[in-house]
Amino acid sequence: MSEHTEVFIIGAGAAGLMCAITAGQRGRKVILVDHANRIGKKILMSGGGHCNFTNLSVGATNYLSANRHFAKSALARYTPENFIELVDKYQIAYHEKEAGQLFCDGSSKQIVALLAEECHAAHVDIHTQCSIISCKKEGDIFHIESNQGNFSAESLIIATGGLSIPSLGASGFGYELGQQFGHSLQNTRPGLVPLTLTGRTHEPFSGLAGVSIGSAETHFNKQHFRAGLLFTHRGLSGPAILQISSFWQEGKALEIDLLPELDVYAYLRQLKMEKPQSFLKSILSEILPNRLAQAMCDLYWHNQPLATYPDLELASIAQKLQQWSILPSGTEGYRKAEVTLGGINTAELSSSSMESRIVPGLYFIGEVVDVTGWLGGYNFQWAWASGSAAGNHA
Ligand code: FDA
Repeated sequence: MSEHTEVFIIGAGAAGLMCAITAGQRGRKVILVDHANRIGKKILMSGGGHCNFTNLSVGATNYLSANRHFAKSALARYTPENFIELVDKYQIAYHEKEAGQLFCDGSSKQIVALLAEECHAAHVDIHTQCSIISCKKEGDIFHIESNQGNFSAESLIIATGGLSIPSLGASGFGYELGQQFGHSLQNTRPGLVPLTLTGRTHEPFSGLAGVSIGSAETHFNKQHFRAGLLFTHRGLSGPAILQISSFWQEGKALEIDLLPELDVYAYLRQLKMEKPQSFLKSILSEILPNRLAQAMCDLYWHNQPLATYPDLELASIAQKLQQWSILPSGTEGYRKAEVTLGGINTAELSSSSMESRIVPGLYFIGEVVDVTGWLGGYNFQWAWASGSAAGNHA
């Protein structure tokens, strides 16, 4: 015997929950399952416990994908304002932290509670600790075998997310299931992830763990991000690094402007006139964290009075600080990555409904799809938008 439903969703994260709510509100009979012991675990962890649930300015340019136009349709039909309306309905207080990033004043738990309440109102049947054993399609019907019994469904939605943070329930299930049904994958790799340094690149900075810069600008290829930067025990982190990590390619150097708000050459020349006897190290300590200034100075320059540096040398010091080239050895991997780049090939999905072009009735939503947002609430907005797109169709 199997329990029949119209819509069967695997994965009760951001995308699966939104899809369940949308389909349930349309009067569809929905079963939502997750192998974890509770729903929305990543939402609970997100935004340092305050969930950066959306961004006021969202466009396809804020996403990485082999098809940079794919996300447009879903994002246009479920906008940040739509989610903010929900947040307002539950009187959840929030604030804008940086350029458009909206965070709960209180806890991420409020967002999970909102989604749970909306599921309840839409009569969604939720099963946690439900492990899927197999899925197959016979005729128009999907058959799902699980540790909680067998199910049959007209639509099967895969919302199992990416590989990041396995301890929160992440699995490669969605990719495997996609391949089983004939879908191809864009290569997966960790995104929004700290970068590591090793050997001679790391040595001079190994004592700087915890040192941070409020505003640095990271560059790779034509992409750049201005935000905070943090030295860690194993390398570099902070928003400016996490952002550029999604674009960085192994074996290639990054460029970092450690002082993007200053014309360092002009500053050094001015100080050479005003304080000619001041030593370089102490001058750099005024514009950079002390330990970083020391490390840079020890590594690259002799510490002398400013008056002794010809302007040409000051220009080269300024260039080093504003175009600092550093070769990461790798990333901290899925253990620390906020997202997984790559995933189900968008060429095989409808951009308006997320339905498979290969298997009718099969849908992929959220992070399992090859659409990955920048840091700043974009990944949840994609989860809400793609979940809503499938929920309106399935
Ligand atoms: P998600 O990973 O949320 O959900 C997938 C669900 O599927 C999980 O509940 C999992 O247990 C379940 N599952 C997996 N395999 C299964 C299987 N085989 N059987 C059954 N169930 C299975 N983004 C943002 O916009 N703002 C933010 O503040 C943050 N902060 C943040 C912090 C941290 C620490 C991380 C790791 C990530 C973020 N993100 C974020 C990214 C964001 O959390 C992520 O992009 C979305 O949660 C993706 O939503 P999905 O629903 O696609 O996957």
